Amino acid sequence: MGKMYPVVTEEYRMALEAAKPKLKAFLIESGCAPLMLRLAFHTAGTFDVKNSRLDVPLRQEFSILSWGDFLMLVGVLAVEVTGGPIVPFHPGRPDMNTPPPEGRLPVPNMGPDQLRNTFINTMGLNDQDIVALSGGHTLGSGHKDKSGVEGSWTRNPLVFDNSYYKELLAGETAGLLKLPSDKALLADPIFRPLVEKFAADQNAFFQAYSESFMKLSELGWADIA
Ligand code: HEM
Repeated sequence: MGKMYPVVTEEYRMALEAAKPKLKAFLIESGCAPLMLRLAFHTAGTFDVKNSRLDVPLRQEFSILSWGDFLMLVGVLAVEVTGGPIVPFHPGRPDMNTPPPEGRLPVPNMGPDQLRNTFINTMGLNDQDIVALSGGHTLGSGHKDKSGVEGSWTRNPLVFDNSYYKELLAGETAGLLKLPSDKALLADPIFRPLVEKFAADQNAFFQAYSESFMKLSELGWADIA
């Protein structure tokens, strides 16, 4: 019951290294990098192995890896192959055999207080993490049939750059998506200067994203002991 930790042996590390180029090729060929980044975000702390339908042959090939490590690695590589920063990756994520409680993930109508409640009070992250991780929306789109929202946040949704922040500051633009939770970053006196900083300085965004995503990707390991 509970958490099942993989044993990170030499063989495990070799499988990780062997998986990387194959996963990168899959992400590039399939155009699935945005979806895989979103999946990795949702994996952090909420993944239920029994409910997974990620049935790719690559998963079979690298079945030695825990689902947690496999999906998080895919999310890290999704950013790398689309031009974003390299996020340090440490293996050893456990899988759960019981589903997590509902309601842990953020929803689109959240304002600053509710975003803080989710990311800070529940996940243990901070204000800068909220702004930096929201930049994940530089990739991908909303789909009406999935979430009710349609369209991408940026003009190049397969390129990971700081355009999410630039578009946010530019205000409403025909054809581009802004969720209330995105606009909440403009309304808040702590969030907004960070949006401005990341819009002006892509390196600052990449560095912050890398730190914040690594933190996100390692949530839950504190209870290993
Ligand atoms: C701040 C709170 C957040 C909210 C309320 C939120 C909400 C959403 C919604 C409603 C969609 C559209 C889903 C669909 O219709 O397919 C979406 C897509 C996406 N989200 Fe978020 N999200 C949040 C944070 C994040 C974070 C932290 C990341 C990653 C670091 C992320 C990465 C993505 C990506 C890459 C997509 C596009 C997926 C695709 O193209 O299929 N989101 N998000």
